[in-house]
Amino acid sequence: LAPKDLAGHTVLVTAGPTREELDPVRFISNYSSGKMGYALAKSAAQRGARVILVSGPVSMAAPYGVELVNVNSAKEMREAVLQRAEECTVIIKAAAVADYRPTERSSIKIKKQSDERTINLIKNPDILAELGTLKKRPYLVGFAAETGKLREFGLKKLKEKNADMIVANDVSQPDAGFNVETNRALLLFQGGREVDCQLMSKEALAGEILNHILAELK
Ligand code: PMT
Repeated sequence: LAPKDLAGHTVLVTAGPTREELDPVRFISNYSSGKMGYALAKSAAQRGARVILVSGPVSMAAPYGVELVNVNSAKEMREAVLQRAEECTVIIKAAAVADYRPTERSSIKIKKQSDERTINLIKNPDILAELGTLKKRPYLVGFAAETGKLREFGLKKLKEKNADMIVANDVSQPDAGFNVETNRALLLFQGGREVDCQLMSKEALAGEILNHILAELK
């Protein structure tokens, strides 16, 4: 039985990809399966936390006992997270949020025309950065999906987004990152501490991340 060491905490986890629609049948997205975020939500719930799981479209069932909020786009994810941020003691942003969305969404299916087409994109709001500016903010954990320079880019995100911890994972490795069962990560904390987590299951990494959050909150 898991220890109920997160009892009394409200943990919001975001998971999965966002979809940025071009028209009623097409969208821009990424390969996030939701496995990492769902593992965090499951483990936090088993350890006694109230868990709110804000999930992009994935093909997994919500873990037992979590409050599931389904969203599609980055804008919907932002609404869902900001609405609930004040209730939370911890927010973990494992979702792969699209940085850009199409400037326009056609309400009818876009027809095939010329051989070349251009899609104009506009920046999405950065949810984690916005959470980092809240006056009374929960303990904030962001992820950094990188294809190299983990420490450098992870530290940049830690600072720029004002997070308390960044979980930097190298998504170019075949056994880590998107849509696999395992992961490895460099945990980066405010104040310069770092912890290297070698290859392990996403469940085990979720447990490690929650252990560190708990230790930091004490
Ligand atoms: O879902 P899986 O298949 O298990 O894969 C797991 C994962 C690779 C998706 C996960 O481990 C991971 O790295 N998630 C973060 C992916 C990502 O979007 O990273 P980023 O470096 O682009 O973003 C940095 C942080 O800012 C993330 O916490 C992200 O949620 C957040 N962000 C990004 C953009 C944006 N507009 N708003 C945000 O809040």
